[in-house]
Amino acid sequence: MSETEARQAQVDRNLALELVRVTEAAALAASRWVGKGDKNAADGAAVEAMRRAFDSVAIDGTVVIGEGEMDEAPMLYIGEKVGLYAKSGGGMRADIAVDPLEGTSLTAKGGPNAMAVVALAPRGGFLHAPDVYMDKIAVGPGLPPGVVDLDRSPEENLRALAAAKGCEVGELTVCVLDRDRHKEIIKACRAAGARLMLIPDGDVFGVLAVAQPETGVDMYLGWGGAPEGVLAAAALRCIGGQMQGRLIFEDEAQVARAREMGMEDPHRKFAMEEMAAGEVMFAATGVTTGPLLRGVRLIPGGAVTHSIVMRSKSGTVRYVEGHHNFRVKPIL
Ligand code: FBP
Repeated sequence: MSETEARQAQVDRNLALELVRVTEAAALAASRWVGKGDKNAADGAAVEAMRRAFDSVAIDGTVVIGEGEMDEAPMLYIGEKVGLYAKSGGGMRADIAVDPLEGTSLTAKGGPNAMAVVALAPRGGFLHAPDVYMDKIAVGPGLPPGVVDLDRSPEENLRALAAAKGCEVGELTVCVLDRDRHKEIIKACRAAGARLMLIPDGDVFGVLAVAQPETGVDMYLGWGGAPEGVLAAAALRCIGGQMQGRLIFEDEAQVARAREMGMEDPHRKFAMEEMAAGEVMFAATGVTTGPLLRGVRLIPGGAVTHSIVMRSKSGTVRYVEGHHNFRVKPIL
C-alpha cells in the first residue's frame, strides 16, 4: 500500500467513527421524546442535533437523501451542504443520506426499533430517490445471486429461498410492514406456510434484519419509503445480502420529479448496487430497543447509546457502546 493509499484508508476509518458521533447525537436528542406522544418534536430534536453534529465531520458533504425538499424542510433538506468543509471545499466530497429519526411514531409510542441513521457514499453513489414508496425485497448474505426477485411472487421467492437455505418454507420468517396495502403479500406468505414478522413501522430495521441471524428474519418484502430503501441498501452493501427496489408513483408529477432528480427510467427495478454504489459507510444508533440495537438508556448524569457502524470497503461491522457524560458535555 502506498503512503497516499494508507493515508486515505486512515481517513476512511476515522470518518466511519465520525458518523457514529452524528447518529449518537440525533438518538440522544430524540430519546428525550420517547413515549411522549409527539413524533414531530422527536423528529425535530433529532434533525437539529444531527445537523449540528455534522459541522465537525471532515467532509464536503451534500445531502441527497434527507428530510425533504428545500422549501419544506428547514434542515437537512435535499441539496443542503453539510460537514466541516461544506463552505470552504477540501476534505472528502461525499453524498450523504440521512434519516435522523427512522420511526417517528415508534419513538412517540415507545415502540421498538426506532433509530438515527446516516450513510455516506462518494459523489453520485446514492440513487437520488424522491420521497415516494419503494417496493422492496431483501435477503441476507451467503445466498446464490438472484435467489429472489421483485418480479416473482412471494411463493416463488419463498420456495427458492428455502431451497437455497436447505430448509422448509415453514421455517422461514418474512418481515413485512403491517399495512393494508400488504394484505395480498401477507396472504400469499401465509398460504405458502411461511412465518411473518409484522412490524408497525421502521423498515430500515426490517431490511437490515435479514442480515442479522439473531433477528430470525429471512426475507423482507413490501412497500416502504424510498429514502429508507436507499439507506437500507447502503447498510446491506456493507453487511452483505441482496436487495432490489422499484419506485411506486401515485401520479405523473411524482414521475416528473424523479426524472428531474436525474432518473432516466424511474419505473425500472433497481439493484442494491445501483441504489448505493462505490465505497459506502453506514451508521445507526438505537433510540428505542429492538433485536438489532439497544435504545438510549438514561443513567444518572448521562446516557448509554448502542450503535452499529460499517464500511463496504472492509466489510467490518462494529457495535459501539457510547457512555455519555452530560455533566461534561450536555445533551444538545
Ligand atoms: P417515519 O420515521 O418517517 O415515520 O417512517 C417510518 C416508516 O415506517 C418507515 O420505516 C417506512 O419506510 C415508512 O414509514 C412507511 O410508510 P407508511 O407509514 O406510509 O406506510
